[in-house]
Amino acid sequence: MNKNIEEFKKRIKQKKVKIAVVGLGYVGLPLAIEFAKKNFPVLGIELDNDRLGHIKKKKSYISDVATEDLKKVILAGKFSASADFRPLKNIDIIIICVPTPLKRKYHPNISYIKQAVRAIARHIKKGSLVILESTTYPGTTHEVILPLFEKQNLKANKDFYLAFSPERIDPGNERYPVNKIPKVVGGVSKESTDLAVAVYSNIIDKVVPVSSATVAEATKLLENTFRLINIGLIDEIAMMCHKMNIDIWEVIEAAKTKPFGFMPFYPSSGCGGHCIPKDPLYLYWKAKKFGFKSRFIKLASDITNYMPEYVIERVIDLLKHNTQYKIQNTKILIIGVTYKKDIKDLRKSPPLDIIEILQKRKINVAYHDPLIPYLKIGNINLKSVALNAGTLKKFDCAIIATDHSKVPYNFLRKNAKLIFDTRNVYKKIKDKKITRL
Ligand SMILES: NC(=O)c1ccc[n+]([C@@H]2O[C@H](COP(=O)([O-])OP(=O)(O)OC[C@H]3O[C@@H](n4cnc5c(N)ncnc54)[C@H](O)[C@@H]3O)[C@@H](O)[C@H]2O)c1
Repeated sequence: MNKNIEEFKKRIKQKKVKIAVVGLGYVGLPLAIEFAKKNFPVLGIELDNDRLGHIKKKKSYISDVATEDLKKVILAGKFSASADFRPLKNIDIIIICVPTPLKRKYHPNISYIKQAVRAIARHIKKGSLVILESTTYPGTTHEVILPLFEKQNLKANKDFYLAFSPERIDPGNERYPVNKIPKVVGGVSKESTDLAVAVYSNIIDKVVPVSSATVAEATKLLENTFRLINIGLIDEIAMMCHKMNIDIWEVIEAAKTKPFGFMPFYPSSGCGGHCIPKDPLYLYWKAKKFGFKSRFIKLASDITNYMPEYVIERVIDLLKHNTQYKIQNTKILIIGVTYKKDIKDLRKSPPLDIIEILQKRKINVAYHDPLIPYLKIGNINLKSVALNAGTLKKFDCAIIATDHSKVPYNFLRKNAKLIFDTRNVYKKIKDKKITRL
């Protein structure tokens, strides 16, 4: 057994190591705070001044991190943050949590990872462990990150250790906070895997080592591809059921009673967030390099992308049936613009697509969202409208796009002229003015 590794593991166990988290977003901040709460000294490296400003004021900007917790670890001297990579010369473990968006459809943009790795390679302390948590295509750690370190004359297993461990957090899910979600870990060497397992075992109940970084990368993409395909499937079945005059929501509730072999997914106005709509496209892109075209991924992506358009078609049909419909006079109110209930995240949010499509069609559109007071779509600035009886009367239809808990649904039902409910908020309520997806 390698003496250095054993010694490193011992220091990890005794919490005699310093940790840096690069990228303090939805993934990085909760992770950094979790380590700090377990008494590891944690340094955050973040380039965004607004986020750094919040940390300076000891105020959380991520819903899964309580301001109280952030304050506590800062005051205890366990957490600090800046944009400076130079302190890495004193750090033992570096965890990268930077964004991995798309350049255009089916084209990964791993420039944030590369930029972070180049900066790390310039300042890394000899013998440190680097772990990538950002979701990316299989092969990134081996084929992209390793060579970037080698370019700086750093040798894996000698000058540094390297592993991939996908983040699986589900923002807003109180049942499964960071420490309750098993963590998959795969290194570029056995030593790297062992070290990464030792690190996460301090904060996570169950750590699952796999044989390589590539397997760990593919694991995350399998999980998110599974979600996208099932969302695409239930969206398609919902459209099918509508044509067949069958209540999809009742069908799902009934199917859910099967104790095995079925997992419920729910239709909505599309698939949003920084993960599910784009992660499978990373896999699609990489598989294409091997001459393999995933029909499932493409189909699910096409179906979910079509949903905002579908919702608008359904609403226009509804208006034609119920009102003296004239497109130029129509006014539509979108309720909930974030991609998910009770979360402030607007990334790839389908309600924003609905607003954009309506604007392009010159249909009057406004929104209400208790979490988002202002919104900019293209060049157009919007302000969340207050929900009062007078305002609601001005709209021909309210589309419930995201089902935030803070929306007064009974009041909305009483005062709106028509409601198109994409989230089954009005479960089982029979009311002529409510139509469900
Ligand atoms: N949001 C989720 O629910 C979720 C869940 C699992 C996995 N992921 C994955 O985790 C990764 C991060 O996602 P996120 O939602 O936390 O993104 P985010 O945009 O909220 O946070 C990333 C942060 O990294 C910072 N950053 C970018 N480049 C940097 C650099 N070179 N140095 C330092 N900081 C830098 C950004 O300013 C930003 O604050 C992505 O790959 C994502 O796919 C996200």
